[in-house]
Amino acid sequence: MHPLEQLRDDALREIEAARDEKSLEGVRVKYLGKTGSVSEWGERMKTLGKEERPVVGKLLNQARNAVTAALDQRGEKVRAEKESEALSTIDISLPGTPHEIGALHPLTQMWQRSIEIFRRMGFALADGPDIEDEWHCFDALNTPPEHPARTEQDTFYLADGCLLRTHTSTVQIRTMESVPPPIRVIAPGAAYRNEELNATHSPQFHQIEGLYVDENVGVADLKGELEFFMRELFGAETEVEFRPHFFPFTEPSLEVYVRSKALKGGEQWIEVAGCGIVHPAVFESVNKARGDDAYDPERWSGYAFGLGMDRLAMILFDIPDIRLFAQNDLRFLRQFA
Ligand code: DAH
Repeated sequence: MHPLEQLRDDALREIEAARDEKSLEGVRVKYLGKTGSVSEWGERMKTLGKEERPVVGKLLNQARNAVTAALDQRGEKVRAEKESEALSTIDISLPGTPHEIGALHPLTQMWQRSIEIFRRMGFALADGPDIEDEWHCFDALNTPPEHPARTEQDTFYLADGCLLRTHTSTVQIRTMESVPPPIRVIAPGAAYRNEELNATHSPQFHQIEGLYVDENVGVADLKGELEFFMRELFGAETEVEFRPHFFPFTEPSLEVYVRSKALKGGEQWIEVAGCGIVHPAVFESVNKARGDDAYDPERWSGYAFGLGMDRLAMILFDIPDIRLFAQNDLRFLRQFA
């Protein structure tokens, strides 16, 4: 037997004996690696005589092919064995562990629906902080220091004189301070009042503020656009009513009531928003803060509104108690998934 044939048989035996990929790799390096025995024979070829060379060359090729094929074959087998061994400890017929899939909170859903409608109407999104100063929450909104909304009974004050904003109307001021007219924005967010927690009131609640400033904006624009919004939200048969009211930052001021037979308790008028025509004093405050006359009340007019998101969600989803929103009870939340 030629030593090359011996070498091949040794290799094949070692390959057959290899139990895992690591030892197989060892065998491969030993015979086919750069300094492996088969490769060494390749080097040795160069020193052989003319007659011997083709004979050894043929044997060498045969040996290399046989070893390569055996390595491939054995490798596949070893991997398959490893896999079935791993699987043997797993019962793949057992049911899996289901993931808990979350869902959007009803208030978030309400926000998304509302924002989607307002975006179609051309409103951009604006934002402001929950922790505010008195200027943005009250003074700039034509609400004087002696106004009852500013008392400790009504507002959460922080040690540094800041407060938790009592409404999202703060964002009206912040937006106008940084952007000249015309503007058309909504600002969704939380608001806070020092109130007893009960079925219809919560110290933290949620609003969407709206502000539209342009030339010749009037009550007709306000009414038309809020009616459109309410009908998009609650259905075409929704009735919308505007009742006179008072807010320091609007004149005239109105409250918005809706009722719809499509909704539960459909015969009842429900108050869902405050709104009005922006008071000239608000524009003057903004001008003062800006240090210019960008919001000249002689030229610009605007309407504003504040929608009660909790109230709207309670109507739309027929939720009887505002406290449910913050209790994180999965039995409640799953109903809106
Ligand atoms: N900020 C008022 C509130 O929280 C709601 C409101 C009324 C907002 C009239 C407005 C507005 O923008 O024009 O009760």
